[in-house]
Amino acid sequence: LGGGSNLLISDAGYRGLVIVNKIKGIHFSQKDDLVVMTCGAGEVLDEVIAKTVEMNYWGLENLSSIPGTIGATPIQNVGAYGVEVSSLINSVTAINLETDEEKVFSNSECDFGYRDSFFKTTLGKKWVVTEVSFNLSQTPNPLLEYKDLQPLQSKNNLTQLDIRNEVIRIRSEKFPDWRSVGTAGSFFKNPIISKTQFEALKQSYSDIPGYEVSEIEVKISLGWILDKVCNLKGFSKDGVSLYKHQALVLVNESAASAEVINNFAKFVAEEVYKKTNVTIEREVLFIEK
Ligand code: EPU
Repeated sequence: LGGGSNLLISDAGYRGLVIVNKIKGIHFSQKDDLVVMTCGAGEVLDEVIAKTVEMNYWGLENLSSIPGTIGATPIQNVGAYGVEVSSLINSVTAINLETDEEKVFSNSECDFGYRDSFFKTTLGKKWVVTEVSFNLSQTPNPLLEYKDLQPLQSKNNLTQLDIRNEVIRIRSEKFPDWRSVGTAGSFFKNPIISKTQFEALKQSYSDIPGYEVSEIEVKISLGWILDKVCNLKGFSKDGVSLYKHQALVLVNESAASAEVINNFAKFVAEEVYKKTNVTIEREVLFIEK
């Protein structure tokens, strides 16, 4: 277990030993402009980002304010505001729970995809991440392509702290505070569909946001679909709701059980399918035994 911020645990609990990864330690090695930062998997992601910003290292600032630990970042290929950790990860050290082998995975061996990696496959799940190395840079490299960050493009001498502060501000408007409310951020992934299916959807919903991910595929904004097509933004049932400022975020207001949340999520997926013919996948992991 890392920070537990992307999990839904079965009402029956988990029959087995659960170990919280608290492996700490942060080391930097510098070579010219490049800074390789190696962190224990149990370090808290946002605390590490605050440190890199303080030290004027570029790379992780767009991922500010994401809950969870460093060890989760390669597993999930954590991403936000135009940056995915796969673009920064140098290597991942992990231990195989069946053989005790320790291995350093190169970036390509992690086989990163959108919210996906080798560590989510059947073989990959045998490995526990113990350490992650990131490539950071000392040369200013503000990444401001994401729509919400574009207003910063006109600012001169932008620092990592400016970006971090803006990301924290945006997130505080779009997400409920996980410290006080039951939430795991985006509950579903944004669907990746064929260009043909995207063109068909555009016939009915001409404004639907879509981002080309390959020559044949487009990633579409599920938050937009839940909001504008299904009219479910703020929808609440049995103590669960889709957040009033961001429909992709599921909030446990007063639901008594994981079953209720699962049923709510099933209902949402069915509504999306009915309206768009798109099958959606969960981002949040359901733990049961
Ligand atoms: N939108 C709406 N209504 C909504 C929500 C979104 O119209 O209720 C529209 C927005 O206006 C925008 C588009 O949908 O045009 C995309 O929305 P947004 O920029 O908020 O991002 P998202 O696709 O909903 C993804 C990630 C978030 C990440 C943000 C910012 C996934 C599943 N979610 O959300 O990641 O913070 O982009 O980069 O990829 C997470 O994974 O838990 C997470 C929070």
